[in-house]
Amino acid sequence: MADPTSTPDDTPAVVLDNVSKSFGDHTVLDGVSLTIQRGSIAVMLGPSGTGKSVLLRCLVGLLQPDRGRVLVFGEDVAALDEKRAADRKRLFAIRRRFGMLFQDGALFDDMTVFDNVAFPMRLHTQLSEQAIHEKVSDRLARVGVAHAEQKFPSELSGGMRKRVAFARAIAIDPDIVLCDEPSSGLDPVMSATLDELILELHRTLGMTFIIISHDTAEARKVADTIGMLANGKLVTFGPAEQVFAENHPALEQFFTRATVGPIKVV
Ligand SMILES: Nc1ncnc2c1ncn2[C@@H]1O[C@H](COP(=O)(O)OP(=O)(O)O)[C@@H](O)[C@H]1O
Ligand SMILES: [Mg+2]
Repeated sequence: MADPTSTPDDTPAVVLDNVSKSFGDHTVLDGVSLTIQRGSIAVMLGPSGTGKSVLLRCLVGLLQPDRGRVLVFGEDVAALDEKRAADRKRLFAIRRRFGMLFQDGALFDDMTVFDNVAFPMRLHTQLSEQAIHEKVSDRLARVGVAHAEQKFPSELSGGMRKRVAFARAIAIDPDIVLCDEPSSGLDPVMSATLDELILELHRTLGMTFIIISHDTAEARKVADTIGMLANGKLVTFGPAEQVFAENHPALEQFFTRATVGPIKVV
């Protein structure tokens, strides 16, 4: 939950300062620096296997970079070690500020839609069952699946499951919503509907969104800030209109679906 006393309002939501991460001799992130302002919708584009999900995992402290700082509302997540009790507390407090929409949706199959959305409320808050009920209903209504409360995930279409996952991601009023390829596996119309949902939630709830995508149409539709990762480097990052205007070769290749260009096909 937002704690307005903890940091001044102009502290960026996220700052990466020269972040590098390798697995063995495979350098996945190579000196990535960027700033994401509060309340923005930042879309990070990049080819598959380029470290987009690794970047998200570094943000919530699920992975530690080898070098660099990862500031979330001014606090360096990369300096916290889950194995130390004092750090663990801080880390969990920071994670609590994130809502996460995972790449595969990842609903609990043996729980109803209601229980899936209630899960983070029961885990992280002291809300009464009555209050949880009201909040779950509100979340499901916001994403347009209010009628599905008592259904199980297996009874839902892919688009509906994604909406429920979204309701769960925003269940406890996160400050930052991380979406890892929200439109993967969805048809174009369903993806467009999801983009509209992101814009609607952003407008009504005012959260910061960080969206990983390789869907350029999605980036054009929702982003106010765009970045692109390729070959371990952040090749471009900035206000959407500026990034679109600069015609960076890697971005150009991505947008035109060209097989020849700076992005190496492996
Ligand atoms: N825990 C891990 N151990 C070893 N290699 C990993 C690990 N996580 C990711 N990688 C590697 O890092 C690279 C980037 O992965 P990822 O961030 O998932 O790519 P994407 O941009 O498609 O999300 C891939 O080559 C992947 O195999
Ligand atoms: Mg990924």
